[in-house]
This record gives sequence, C-alpha cells and structure tokens, in this order.
Amino acid sequence: MKKINLVILFSGNGKNMENIIFKLHKKQFQILGHCVEICVRAALSNKKNAYGLKRLENLNTQYYEKIDSIILEHANFANREEFDRQLANVLEKYKPDLVVLAGFMRILSPFFVNQFQIINIHPSLLPKYKGAHAIKDSFESKDREVGVSVHWVDEGLDSGRIILQASRLRQEDEDFEFFENQIHKIEYDLYPQAIIKAIEEGLKS
Ligand code: GAR
Repeated sequence: MKKINLVILFSGNGKNMENIIFKLHKKQFQILGHCVEICVRAALSNKKNAYGLKRLENLNTQYYEKIDSIILEHANFANREEFDRQLANVLEKYKPDLVVLAGFMRILSPFFVNQFQIINIHPSLLPKYKGAHAIKDSFESKDREVGVSVHWVDEGLDSGRIILQASRLRQEDEDFEFFENQIHKIEYDLYPQAIIKAIEEGLKS
C-alpha cells in the first residue's frame, strides 16, 4: 500500500482542516490502480489562539497515533522570509507529499512554494475575487453563479492552476449569512475530492 502524507496549515476556525481529517485521515482509496492510505501527519497554525487548535485536540482524542499539533507564530519572526524558512524546516521532517492550505491566511515566499507541492482552497470561482475577502466580494457582486476553487499554489496570489471548482446558483433574496453558509457547505464537499484529484495528478507525474 502506498502512503500519502499530508500536512495541513490553517490560521483560524479550522473547519476545513477538521473536515479533511474526518473524511480522509487513515482512510484508503483506490487511485489510478494504487491502494493509497492518506495520513495527516500534522496540522500547523500560525496563530496561537486559532480555534482550529481546539478542534484538533478534540479530534486527536479519537486516534491512538496523534496528529501533531504545531503552533508557529509568524508574529515572532522579523520578516516573511524568516518565518517561511522556519516553516519549511518544521514541515520537512514530516516529508509531506502534499501541503494543504485550509484557511491559512499568509502569502508564501517563492522559495517555500518551490520546495513543496501545495494546494489551497479559495471561496470564489477564481480568477474572480482573489484575496482575503472573496466571500464578501462574491456576495456583493451581481454574479448569479458563485462557488469555490481548489488550486495548486504558485508564486502569485490565488493564481495557480485549478484542480477543481464547484458552484451554485444563488437566489435574489439571500442574506449574507445564508450565502456564506452555502459557500462553506460547498467547501466541505469539494476539498476532500480535490485532495484525491491532486494526489492522482502527483501519481501521474
Ligand atoms: C475558508 O472559507 C477558506 O476558503 C478561506 O478561509 C476560510 C477558512 O475557514 N480561505 C481563503 O479565503 C484563502 N484566500 P476555516 O478555517 O473554517 O476552514
């Protein structure tokens, strides 16, 4: 059996991280004729008060072999480059086949991006509404079709090649809370599927 190691990076609520662990961790999949077991080796937050750390602690009570929980605060580093170098050092020991960004609200420097295979989830139909306020920007747009993208991470902002997208048609009377919840529902369905597709692309190359 082939093992695929994931490390997840997050900054806050951590619901996507939790959902990925719940749906994929220690589970086996047939991918391109290989039996693959996915293992989330660690999840790392750049913020010490991230709620996702509590989610991870709760999840870990279910597992004999714990998923490492790591806090690496960017605020303790002089600049982006120094933080990213330390981040790379920490991640290297897990030999991740895939680094999964799940609400990790940091731009990564080119050397980091070139060192790992990295994917990201973004709550809009890219290339529309890049940046940190995608849900609000989609909501305020006149777009009828809205959705979520999972993409490879390159040196640009939300600019790498798309792995999967999913969308829905919104109604005229939706308020922001409903709209946002619908986007999150799409995310929880889409990200696990996109991770499998990314692993498939990795096995092909
Ligand atoms: C998610 O909606 C994710 O798409 C978004 O942050 C949220 C994290 O929620 N990411 C971005 O906007 C990246 N540009 P979570 O912490 O509950 O998973």
